[in-house]
Amino acid sequence: MAQHEAAHKREVWSGRSVFIMAAIGSAVGLGNIWRFPYIAYENGGGAFLIPYLVALLTAGIPLLFVDYAMGHKFRGSPPLAFRRLSRGSEFIGWWQVLICFVIGVYYAVIIAWAACYTFFSVTEAWGDSPEEFFMGDFLHVDGESSFGMSFVPGVAWPLLLVWVATLVVLALGVQRGIGNANRIFVPLLVVLFGALVVQALLLDGASVGLDAFFTPNWEALTDTGVWIAAYAQIFFSLSVAFGIMITYSSYLKRKTNLTGSGLVVGFSNSSFEVLAGIGVFSALGFMAQAQGVAVDEVVAGGIGLAFIAFPTIVSQMPGGPIFGVLFFGSLVFAGFTSLISILQVTIAAFQDKTGLGKVPAVLTIGGASAIVSLLLFPTTTGLNTLDVVDRFANQFGIVGVAFVAIIVIAWILRRLPELRDHLNSVSSFKVGLGWQIFVGVITPVVLGYMLFSEIRDRIDEGYGGLPDDLVTVFGWGVQVAVIVLAVAMSFVPWRRGIEDEFELDENRPVLTKTQQGENS
Ligand code: ALA
Repeated sequence: MAQHEAAHKREVWSGRSVFIMAAIGSAVGLGNIWRFPYIAYENGGGAFLIPYLVALLTAGIPLLFVDYAMGHKFRGSPPLAFRRLSRGSEFIGWWQVLICFVIGVYYAVIIAWAACYTFFSVTEAWGDSPEEFFMGDFLHVDGESSFGMSFVPGVAWPLLLVWVATLVVLALGVQRGIGNANRIFVPLLVVLFGALVVQALLLDGASVGLDAFFTPNWEALTDTGVWIAAYAQIFFSLSVAFGIMITYSSYLKRKTNLTGSGLVVGFSNSSFEVLAGIGVFSALGFMAQAQGVAVDEVVAGGIGLAFIAFPTIVSQMPGGPIFGVLFFGSLVFAGFTSLISILQVTIAAFQDKTGLGKVPAVLTIGGASAIVSLLLFPTTTGLNTLDVVDRFANQFGIVGVAFVAIIVIAWILRRLPELRDHLNSVSSFKVGLGWQIFVGVITPVVLGYMLFSEIRDRIDEGYGGLPDDLVTVFGWGVQVAVIVLAVAMSFVPWRRGIEDEFELDENRPVLTKTQQGENS
């Protein structure tokens, strides 16, 4: 009996709609708002939508189904799910967890910057020179040393607030914390961003921007780099293959339509992405027209787009402060719901392994993430450190772990048919041979090529002109440490009874409403 109760301890979402909302909240993040518009523009404009759609259908959604099947069938955080798949594959789960740890510590920093800029927008605090303000007055960037790390309190305090808010949501638990936060922030984001797009479309020059964005360059389709860019965008943007969706789907009730949910999440995320492209390029069109230059002279992506180009637009346009609040507020909400999901992976894994309660696990692992984040990034070298860690975590870490996971699941263990049967036993949209080919053949070929070219280019070219020592420590060093630690963690013993729990869990009846209430 005691064991049976333990089996029921895993938290559950109250329903499928909360899970879908949380999965959309996780997927829609900084990647959608500042990465997609730029990547699409750089890689063929309107024509990019073709490789993008192909990548979504042949890799993004099929891999999302793999994550759902792993989390739902094996009911665990990534290390537990992989261990239940096969003992030897546990390290893959830890690799994903540690990648989430690394991403979490810098993702929070960007949210803190965006929160500051939401307030700066009201008074246009950057004055006449947004670039100097961002690099100088705000971040105090030290252009000389790699590891100067003098503290910048103006970033540290907002970052501390972001961490407190995140840890409070996580400590409240899956349904009460994460579920409710997403139920509030996702609709709020849609309203804020929708208002921003309307305001952007009404600007003079919006059509010039949209022309630049959507005009197809068909030749781009013959360039393999464009196809790789489409696949890379889909992986990060959909939050697939780095443990998030395994974790979130482990809290689903037994009878849940998995593939149907995946289709909703995949298409919602991409719709938001295209909407972001429309909003961002309308605004860039306005800026190009105001400055009397072509759109390609004002276009930027990532940090440069958000913290330099957008403040410039805010200063030049009518109703600028409102636009600034909408834009940076959207970044905060989109980023926050993604950050929660990233950290939940680390906390769930720690809880599964040690049996520790929710609050102690949040304080230990969440607290450790907050400390690392607060020590490394609100510093005079924080911007460069963030740039390097981000690049390697995404292009090497996520791509690498996704490649290894697929090879192990599909080719070494040959378990795709089992995952397919699991998906089909609960879902409305059935998957078959096509799905197995996408997951087992197309995806590893693309991922393998991405990994190979990234390693070759980084060895040949370094990264972004940044100092070699910085790239060695925070790029290669962090990623190698993550892999070594992942293997080490797979040798640490599990808490007792974890296997019995799964056996009982597998056979347990579908929870009744009252039981679900007790669980959440
Ligand atoms: N999927 C999240 C993003 O797009 C991580 O930012």
